Amino acid sequence: TDSVLTVCITGAAGQIAYSLLPHLANGCIFGPTQRVALHLLEIAPALPALAGVAMELADGAYPLLVSVVQTSDPTVAFARADVAVLVGAFPRRAGMERKDLLAKNVPIFKAQAHALNTVANSGVRVLVVGNPANTNAMVLSSFAPSIPKKHISALTRLDHNRAVAEVARVAGVQAPSVDGVCIWGNHSSSQYPDVTRAVAAGKPVLPMLGGLENVAETFIPMIQKRGASVIKARGLSSAMSAATAIGDHLRSWLTGDSAVVSMAVPSDGSYGIKEGIFFSYPVRCLGAGEYEIVQGIEVDSFSRKYIEATAAELNAEREEALAVLA
Ligand code: NAI
Repeated sequence: TDSVLTVCITGAAGQIAYSLLPHLANGCIFGPTQRVALHLLEIAPALPALAGVAMELADGAYPLLVSVVQTSDPTVAFARADVAVLVGAFPRRAGMERKDLLAKNVPIFKAQAHALNTVANSGVRVLVVGNPANTNAMVLSSFAPSIPKKHISALTRLDHNRAVAEVARVAGVQAPSVDGVCIWGNHSSSQYPDVTRAVAAGKPVLPMLGGLENVAETFIPMIQKRGASVIKARGLSSAMSAATAIGDHLRSWLTGDSAVVSMAVPSDGSYGIKEGIFFSYPVRCLGAGEYEIVQGIEVDSFSRKYIEATAAELNAEREEALAVLA
């Protein structure tokens, strides 16, 4: 294609962006002939560091990268954006409670919503990564009325990939041979990584994982706490795998995918989750930024309990976000 895709990344001088930007520039996400313009947003104190990142992007001499904008003004960053990846957020500090984190992030996502609503391209697709990602996406969506809700999503693909990778490891197969894994609910430790219907090379994985009781005791907590395990080992959060997951999410969403993947999307009543929150579901990506929530899954009582718990957490976050706004 001859047209240039405008891709905006917020938090562009941060850790995740440092791993993500090469993927965005090198053709592996949007296609090997799709030219890209990158719009990089940071807060003013991080602009000097961002200038260094921009130097490295230039030095990459990427054939498909046509221009790079550096700014601390959201209306410049989001101008004519086709894709916006919202990575920047106020970080969780030691001792901070969820409602303190929400109080810091609600105004950021409200302001970015106004800017996106005003200056982005009408077909813009928005991926929220900064935490609390699901609720930040909900806030964004409610202040960007001209962007269809289904054009906004939050990242749970990292959790999905973690679950797939662990199943593949146990089954002794490569990741693409795993099917039927999904993440339900919040990108938080209440998420439900569901392997009850999963297969590896066509064989059910539940017995390989030691049965439901063992899944509850070992597998589920391992996936729920994987981010913390990486931080403990590395002293830094899981930026490389987050960047890979962002690339996977964008590729599936924008170009389609034959596999069922996990995305946090506006709830539509599917599986009894009431509207008003962004909930991770198994989805089928149809291409061109369209998806459908997979329907007709038989949710057993084991899974139901986890799905209700993570929905309850998201409903509580929603109430807290609304209280901050009031
Ligand atoms: P980081 O702290 O290295 O980078 C974040 C960057 O965002 C910083 O450079 C900061 O200056 C910038 N920033 C802060 N407020 C901003 C604003 N209002 N506008 C523009 N930029 C702003 O953090 P890292 O490791 O890159 O992570 C970013 C976010 O992603 C965190 O909230 C983290 O919790 C979240 N995350 C989400 C995952 C998911 O699966 N949904 C996975 C991993 C991280």
